[in-house]
Amino acid sequence: MYYPSIHTKLVILLGNPLGHSYSALMHNHVFEKLNMDYCYWPVEVSAENLPTVFAGLTRMNVAGFNVTIPHKVRIIALLDEIDPLASVIGAVNTICIKEGRTRGYNTDGEGFLKALEAELDISTAGKNFFILGCGGAARAIAMTFAFHDAGKVFLCNRTISKAEKLTAEINEKIRPCAEVVPQISAEMTPALRTCQVLVNSTSVGMHPDEDRIPIDEALLFQELAVADIVYNPLMTRLLQAAQHTGCRIVNGLGMLVYQGAEAFKLWTGITPPVREMFAVLREGKK
Ligand code: ATR
Repeated sequence: MYYPSIHTKLVILLGNPLGHSYSALMHNHVFEKLNMDYCYWPVEVSAENLPTVFAGLTRMNVAGFNVTIPHKVRIIALLDEIDPLASVIGAVNTICIKEGRTRGYNTDGEGFLKALEAELDISTAGKNFFILGCGGAARAIAMTFAFHDAGKVFLCNRTISKAEKLTAEINEKIRPCAEVVPQISAEMTPALRTCQVLVNSTSVGMHPDEDRIPIDEALLFQELAVADIVYNPLMTRLLQAAQHTGCRIVNGLGMLVYQGAEAFKLWTGITPPVREMFAVLREGKK
């Protein structure tokens, strides 16, 4: 049994609600495995109390923070510094405290890229990506692709105006590499055919008993790698269909683990054992 002391470094997760979060399980497991005197502590906080709670916590023995829904945007106003990628994304999920100054990062997109690299050996530069959905997760992923010299980033969303807005932002703030695909149909095949990776960032497939799929299976082809950010269930209908077509696949657990690994490095300066992180999450999910 591990008992925190006055020397224990804290890493705080700020969000609301946090009952569904696997981050404490993942990080505390690694701290214990590496014999590090750190403790990851989830703190549910309302938007109203965020400034006071954050100010108080930064005066404690805290190495850093994770920030999740619904505070990823509003936390920015409370920080001393922001990393350039997090600044264009406009959302922060990781904070470090160095010499008393808070600095915000966004490891969601970086985590996704690392998962593609580690699990499928796919690097970003020069590759084309097709993203379904335009919510917060898609925004971080698409902007990180653009930031890391992707060829083209195609954005396709049920509400087209959101895809248009994100496309314009990427093209203006990062590089002119984004393009809207108006609808998920046979018409999008020419764009999809130029892509190495299809990413589902919609919530379609998120409910374990759900039978929906965000794209017609007939549009998939063997050379396409298919990634789903959903990790519960691990095998969504989309990933099952992709596997059936002969595509290489990556599930949302990879993104969860690698965004955590990037944050872990920022707080501690140590590269965590991702194999341990996958193992404890798979166990914890049973
Ligand atoms: P996250 O932060 O995880 O990205 P989000 O911001 O709520 O979550 O975004 C959810 C995404 O899933 C959106 O792109 C949403 O499309 P809309 O912008 O049109 O709402 C998409 N989505 C949700 N349900 C969908 C459905 N049944 N069919 C297609 N897209 C859906």
